[in-house]
Order: sequence, then structure tokens, then C-alpha cells
Amino acid sequence: LNVLVLAGGISHERDVSLRSGRRVADGLHAHGHRVTLREPDADLLGFLKSNRPDVVWPALHGASGENGALRALLEAAGVPYVGAEPQPARVAWLKPIAKTVVARAGVVTPQSVTLPRETFRELGANTVLATLREFLGAPLVVKPSQGGSAQGVTIVADPAELPRAMVTAYTYADVALLEKKVEGTEIAITVLDLGDGPQALPAVEIAPNQGVYSFEARYNAGETHFFTPARLTGEVAARAAQAAVSAHEALGLRHISRVDLIVDADGTPWFLEANVLPGLTETSLVPLAIQAAGFDLGAVYVGLAEQAIR
Ligand code: DAL
Ligand code: MG
Repeated sequence: LNVLVLAGGISHERDVSLRSGRRVADGLHAHGHRVTLREPDADLLGFLKSNRPDVVWPALHGASGENGALRALLEAAGVPYVGAEPQPARVAWLKPIAKTVVARAGVVTPQSVTLPRETFRELGANTVLATLREFLGAPLVVKPSQGGSAQGVTIVADPAELPRAMVTAYTYADVALLEKKVEGTEIAITVLDLGDGPQALPAVEIAPNQGVYSFEARYNAGETHFFTPARLTGEVAARAAQAAVSAHEALGLRHISRVDLIVDADGTPWFLEANVLPGLTETSLVPLAIQAAGFDLGAVYVGLAEQAIR
């Protein structure tokens, strides 16, 4: 195959994407495919027209690759590409909307409110605090309503920390999502569809050394301990796998996604979000899951490309 791997972009996760793209390109190349690694820059359409790749492998995180816009452009160009179609990607990208869609499919998601920057400004921190205490109680997870790699995310245990957490979230998005923090085991489940329908790979359990799966804990080797498969009973693992597949299907995703969940003390999996193009770096979760399932990384990246063409 002649595969165009896109990596980089102008999102906050540019560096992560460059690392993911390199790994995907290496995997495809190792299986004998012709690979071009390229930025999704202003010349992309011209490049597609002149080079006519068989398939595009968009290893792009953040807005560049996950908000649906680039995927719409690839549709318009008539080039097959790996992963979700524009509209489902967009829905998954907007976390509050994704939560609503997935909850409707019967997967629970932490109670939350969204707060646009303007509203926060108008109401003031004190009113917001009083209201939130009533609705959600502490602790909260404050995050931008869109984005990845835990950028702009703060866990707020002391209400006095809320204003700063809000400002941090608004650095990345105009709307903040305030979620009730569910205590439990943090897991990520890769959902893979190589033609036989979506299958959940073994759950990866995330145990960051500093307790929080921050940007640093994600991309510095040794900062987080992973248990693959997650330390769950068979029954709870099966429930979590089912929740992940349900979320993937409810969102209408394609080929691959990574569904992030918290499993509480009762064994209930709570949906946090679905990632349309999850990290594929040396320290990322999806490669761990693929290997734990006994698959070769490159073979899976090739399989996804073939799936896109089919
Ligand atoms: N947003 C990062 C790349 C991830 O989900 O792994
Ligand atoms: Mg994410």
C-alpha cells in the first residue's frame, strides 16, 4: 500500500502526534508498505491530488485530527482514511455531548455541568461555587470541554482551588466541563474493529506514581505504572469491555477508539470519554493493549489501513 501518515498539526498535542505518527509509520514500513510521513499543512489537498495515496493514516491528536474537520476534508478529497468519520469524530470530540450520547445507550457517566467562560465571568466564582456545591459536591474534575492528554485538567478537592482550575480549563476551550470525581480504578479500553465488528482489547489499568494521570505522567516513561490486563475480576472486566463497546457503537465510531473509564468499588464502569485517535507513542495505552492481546503493532496498523480501503 501507498500510505500517507499525517502527524503534527497545530493542536496542543502536536508533539504527541509526531511521536505517534513516527511509530505508526515504522510499523507500516516494517510490513513492507510505502509510507510518507507528512504534516497536515495548507498544501495537503495538492499533495493528495498529485500523490494519490491508497489510504491516509491520520495519526493526529487534538483538534487537528479528532474534531472531524480534517476527516471532512479527506472525505471531500475522496481518499480513504483510518478511523471515525467526520460527524461521529465531532461528537466524540465534544465531551459533554459524548457523555450524553453514551449515557443514553445505558453506560453511566459522572454527573457534570458545563460552564461557558462568559457565564463564569458573569456569575463570578462565588455563585458558581455555591451552585456547584449544591449540584455536584466535591471533589470535582475540571476540564476543557474538548481536548486531550489531560491538558487543562485539574482535580479540585478544595473549593478554594476552583477559580484557578476554571482559568486553566479556559486556556484550552471556551467551555469548561465540571465532573463529579468518581473514585475507583482508572482504565482505558481499546476498541478495535478489523472487519468482524468492534472488539474490546484487554483493559489497561492506569496507576500514576503521583496519583494523577497528568500530561507528565503520560509521556515520561516510568511515571505511570500500567497493569495489563487491569486488576479486575472476570465479571467486572467483562462489564467494562461491554461498556466500552457500547460507547464506541453509540458514538458511531469506526475502526479504532480508546474508551476511558473509571470502575468504582461496586464494579460499575463510568464513561469518561472516547478518543477517536488515541495516543500511539512509546508510553501510550493502545500499544500496550494491542500487545497484551497478542497482536503485532504494525500488523494492526496495516489492518486498520486495509479496513479503511474496504
Ligand atoms: N489524546 C491523547 C493522544 C490520547 O488520548 O492518548
Ligand atoms: Mg482523551
